Amino acid sequence: MRKKITIIGAGNVGATAAHWALTRRLGNVVLLDVVEGIPQGKALDLLQAGPVDGFSCAITGSNDFADSADSDVVIITAGLARKPGMSRDDLLARNVAIVKSCSEQAAKYSPDSVLIVITNPIDAMVYTAFKVSGFPKNRVVGMAGVLDSARYRTFLAMALKVAPRDVNAMVMGIHGDNMLPLIRLANVAGIPVTDLLSSEELGKIVHRTQHGGAEIVGHLKTGSAFYTPGLAAVEMAEAILTDSKRVLPCAAYLEGEFGISGCFLGVPVVLGTNGVERIVEFKLTAEEKESLSISEKAVHKQMDATGL
Ligand code: LAC
Repeated sequence: MRKKITIIGAGNVGATAAHWALTRRLGNVVLLDVVEGIPQGKALDLLQAGPVDGFSCAITGSNDFADSADSDVVIITAGLARKPGMSRDDLLARNVAIVKSCSEQAAKYSPDSVLIVITNPIDAMVYTAFKVSGFPKNRVVGMAGVLDSARYRTFLAMALKVAPRDVNAMVMGIHGDNMLPLIRLANVAGIPVTDLLSSEELGKIVHRTQHGGAEIVGHLKTGSAFYTPGLAAVEMAEAILTDSKRVLPCAAYLEGEFGISGCFLGVPVVLGTNGVERIVEFKLTAEEKESLSISEKAVHKQMDATGL
């Protein structure tokens, strides 16, 4: 039987995630939104790509959570996006109410699903979904590390003039200016980037990665990135739905791993049928630990602001 994926929010990120999900044949998609007509129209448009692209998966647009019943994965994208000059934190108050209600409904209609949260500020919103859904920690996960790492890998590939897929690099920590693009572990086909680029060049790439979201907001002016955020969520959903055990950086609930407890932060995890099946802990340098503790402080401040 085909898997079922519900995407909550038919804005740019949600609709683009639906698009990627269909092109990857992940399963039947339900696109949900409170605005009447938008999910229906976008879903119908995407459905009509089936004969051309070759997929047989169904996609339905709806305003009714009942249509999301028994989903295997629910991707929460609903919420306001950033405008120029706004930080992800500026969105917190508005988006916490939206994510609360989406998580309640998702838990009611799809009690066995895995929730993937994209709404910003991601690390606090995934915590909100965890609290409100009552789901175990392995079934609530935030999308940010795959996106931030994709940006990091892109910038490294540009500097090195190599295929982006051959660049392995990971970003840990908060999805914000204090995120931690790991230089020490970044490599091209196994060759450390520190052997290939100067520390000045690497410093510039790290800085551009940390501000990668704002760079796109600055261009778009009316919103934030959506192609790669949508794909990053689908990459995670695919790993869960196919039980692939891929190791991807995701916002996971920490209980002592990396010396941090009681919050969601970006760390490498193994994704499979049970969601976050394992956090892959490894030894950090003192400098990396210090950077992660800055992320931890920032995320706790956001969590306090959720009032949960
Ligand atoms: C970005 C948004 C998803 O980084 O926060 O583009």
